[in-house]
Amino acid sequence: MQAYSERVRVRGKTISFVPTMGYLHDGHFRLLEQGRERGDVLVMSIFVNPSQFGPKEDYARYPRDMRRDLGYARRAGVDVVFAPTKEEMYPEGFQTSITVEEVTKTLCGPFRPGHFQGVATVVAKLFNIVKPHVALFGEKDFQQLVVIRRMVRDLNMGIEIVGVPTVREKDGLAMSSRNKYLNREERKAALCLYRSLMKAKKLVRSGERDSKAILREARRIIKAEPLAKIEYVSLMDQETMKDVKNIGRKALLAMAVRIGRTRLIDNFRLP
Ligand code: PAJ
Repeated sequence: MQAYSERVRVRGKTISFVPTMGYLHDGHFRLLEQGRERGDVLVMSIFVNPSQFGPKEDYARYPRDMRRDLGYARRAGVDVVFAPTKEEMYPEGFQTSITVEEVTKTLCGPFRPGHFQGVATVVAKLFNIVKPHVALFGEKDFQQLVVIRRMVRDLNMGIEIVGVPTVREKDGLAMSSRNKYLNREERKAALCLYRSLMKAKKLVRSGERDSKAILREARRIIKAEPLAKIEYVSLMDQETMKDVKNIGRKALLAMAVRIGRTRLIDNFRLP
């Protein structure tokens, strides 16, 4: 892969890159579409990265389907699929990692210790292998996008990071490979995230600016769903990932909610 990327670069062509963990859906597809527009050569990686999963998380049962993903990649116009094994990515003796400090201290950070370190490290490795000019990430994982932007800036990686708006199912549920875990009842219950975000948006539209009041309403809707358990519902600054007391110019309403055994996240930019 590395040698290929170097040859492409020498020929003066632009490489765009979409890193994924596979089990592709239309959210990934949107990233690939935008990637195709932004580069001459479109590279996608598929790697379920063990280092970003906690010991009690779903690494072993994370959905995988390489055949289906390769068909998807072809339809999306991907030029190269990079799908390394975990031994290739983490050979014996591996011992280096990247910690992005402040922006990982809130939201998912405390609930998933080591997660963002795993993400930053694997993405840095993938960047060094693929050598892209442009890389695309979804706003569905807003904090991840912020972490990657910070890392690229702090370590002078010289890669343009593009954020892509969240792609949703018709009824509003944010697309995610993890939605496969939901049974019929849970799939219905999972809509409470979107309902809660919409309620907050409505409140802000009608002039409400106080975080406490907005969060109270947003949480109330999730609490009314018996299958849902809130991990966090927070109003943050879109860049610092720190709490805001009032909705200013760049706020983010973000939430993580367990529906049965499945952990779902979602967010809206406000106002
Ligand atoms: P994965 O969950 O496969 O997501 C790959 C990319 O697709 C991420 O940038 C994610 O934000 C984006 N994405 C997922 N669902 C989306 C949706 N509904 N709308 C828009 N974009 C969406 O995120 C990861 O993998 C991993 O952490 C990775 C970055 C590959 C590092 O291992």
